[in-house]
Amino acid sequence: MKILGIESSADETSAAVVEDGHRLLSNVVATSLDLHTFYGGIVPEIAARSHIESIIPVIEEALKTAKTDWAGIDAIAVTKGPGLMGSLLVGVLTARTLAITKDKPLYGVNHVEAHVYANFLTDTKLPGYQLAIKQPKFPVLALIVSGGHTQLVLFKNHGDYQLLGQTRDDAVGEAYDKVAKLLGLPYPGGPSVAVAARHGNPRSIVLPKAKMSSKYDFSFSGLKTAVLRAAQELAGKDYTFPSSGLSKALSKAQKADLAASFQYTAIETLVNALAGAAEEFEPGSVVMAGGVAANLDLRKKAEETLPTPVIYPDIKLCTDNAAMIAALAYYRSATQPADEPYRLGVFPSLSM
Ligand code: KG4
Ligand code: ZN
Repeated sequence: MKILGIESSADETSAAVVEDGHRLLSNVVATSLDLHTFYGGIVPEIAARSHIESIIPVIEEALKTAKTDWAGIDAIAVTKGPGLMGSLLVGVLTARTLAITKDKPLYGVNHVEAHVYANFLTDTKLPGYQLAIKQPKFPVLALIVSGGHTQLVLFKNHGDYQLLGQTRDDAVGEAYDKVAKLLGLPYPGGPSVAVAARHGNPRSIVLPKAKMSSKYDFSFSGLKTAVLRAAQELAGKDYTFPSSGLSKALSKAQKADLAASFQYTAIETLVNALAGAAEEFEPGSVVMAGGVAANLDLRKKAEETLPTPVIYPDIKLCTDNAAMIAALAYYRSATQPADEPYRLGVFPSLSM
């Protein structure tokens, strides 16, 4: 079964063809990132307009790379939420129209759940992809870390999962992005903080770890504020000094120490929770997913701490892509009916 996936929840317009939920035939991603970098974050209106321009060429490219045409596609999958309203609308309306005109079943899927399914892709002839050899074994313990989400989820089977914990405020990727802005590093903050951190001392500034009443919940907003206060102190200013002026008042070495200390604390928080859940639930596999799972220090720390190997997607499949959407829809189609193409809506705040 070949599924065409469509993803447009944030600033990436992506289309992919996946066969039988594990064979990656194509994965095309166009991003409007350059347009947002100037503003230091995603501008929803610009993202939506860029999706409109890119979505049809991206889908055509995905079919061409997969060496197929509409006759070879068995179903269409699309992100129905969570995400930006305008961005989601472009993907869902395109998918609905194609499902009707090409007469294909349509599956609207949850973007956050789909991130985990990047780990179910095990086979490709596409150049430049490093995929796991085997699929994860249930029960699967998943740490989903992205710009909008930080969740620890136990999947007993496809579609049967339990949310163990999640962030009470900022997502960890959002904290990376905010710390980057504070340090005057380019958007998206995750990769730029990771690069700056390489030259800093992670133990130079002691930052607090949030204590949560529920052991698998997270909070990153206090950590972000602690970085702000430490930056003000290093710059010799008090707490009234505006964060927008700080990057000019800090040296490169001070920025590196702040980035390294922030990253050290954030990663330790994530890995401690993951290790605790692995011990309690004894999963068949532990996986990571989402944009922050691209972080090599996070991967290293998880490998050092957990007693069993941790599975993560190829770096290109950590950030938003349509391959994970098509993969999830394959397993969903086995147990649930297709969505109604005249009715499928968008759900900007969809939870797991
Ligand atoms: O999964 P994703 O592409 O989009 C959402 O669904 O949110 O994740 C984007 C997030 C951004 O916050 C970005 O800063 C972060 O992932 N990110 C990273 C890295 N690459 C992307 N964070 C830490 N280290 C990275 N290497
Ligand atoms: Zn995402």
